[in-house]
Amino acid sequence: MLKPENPLRGDYSQMREDYTVEQNWAAYTAAEHERYRRLAERQSRKLSGYACDEFIEHVAALAGDGIPRFEDANALLDRATGWQIVGVPGLIPDDVFFRHLANRRFPVTVWLRKPEEFDYIVEPDVFHDFFGHVPLLMNPVFADYLQEYGRGGMKALALGGLGYLARLYWYTVEFGLIDTQQGLRTYGAGILSSGGEILHCLDSSAPHRVRFDLMRVMQTEYRIDRFQDTYFVIDSYNQLFHETAQDFAPLYARLQALPSIDPSVTVAGDALVPQVRHYESIRRSAA
Ligand code: PHE
Ligand code: FE
Repeated sequence: MLKPENPLRGDYSQMREDYTVEQNWAAYTAAEHERYRRLAERQSRKLSGYACDEFIEHVAALAGDGIPRFEDANALLDRATGWQIVGVPGLIPDDVFFRHLANRRFPVTVWLRKPEEFDYIVEPDVFHDFFGHVPLLMNPVFADYLQEYGRGGMKALALGGLGYLARLYWYTVEFGLIDTQQGLRTYGAGILSSGGEILHCLDSSAPHRVRFDLMRVMQTEYRIDRFQDTYFVIDSYNQLFHETAQDFAPLYARLQALPSIDPSVTVAGDALVPQVRHYESIRRSAA
């Protein structure tokens, strides 16, 4: 995830200039491998009908026995999209994060959550970063989107657009939903690594599900300490890629004059997506 919180956890003493560290796989304990295995197993049982096909297609191949070895994943990623993952001690500065993405490197935290954080953790750990984020890096269009996002981040830093761009990351890469032939699914890493939110985001009638609209997303605040009140729904990774390809400089200028939107409300112009899980036939008969 993108949001820094509280004092940083993790060992920053051994890192290189670009904030990367060795994964040091041999140093994980048996208890840590077992904890990761349990997290991955529990989550894998919930994917069907909730995770997008692209995630399900790749998550098993990337899995190791326990905490995965980054170099094994890198061999697969290299062949699929040319992405690589790099170990990091934890959260890293925005500019460093963006530069990694712009160079098709995804930073993955090397440490694993503690037993008491099994169900919920605020900071990203290796389970969130690897299990949640890496499978979609195998998809060429999503992989290109994330690289462009990194480039856009470096631009946003210079333009004062960081807050707006962070919302786009939050509502797509972390908490995005996608409308598929089979029904709504999620591609967001924050959801896919969460035991509770993966069900909540599709089954609960509480949250709003709003069709993706770039300006609407960048106007919308978000909460990092609870399930989301609003999810944005894309039709395809192509849509996401193309709607974010435009120059954001004029958008940032306009956004500064626009009000922020509270995530718990909907606004005029929102296209709400019905919370029906299998509605292909409905959509057909309406066409
Ligand atoms: N097109 C954006 C810009 O000009 C960059 C970007 C691409 C941002 C993809 C987010 C996602 O700043
Ligand atoms: Fe994340």
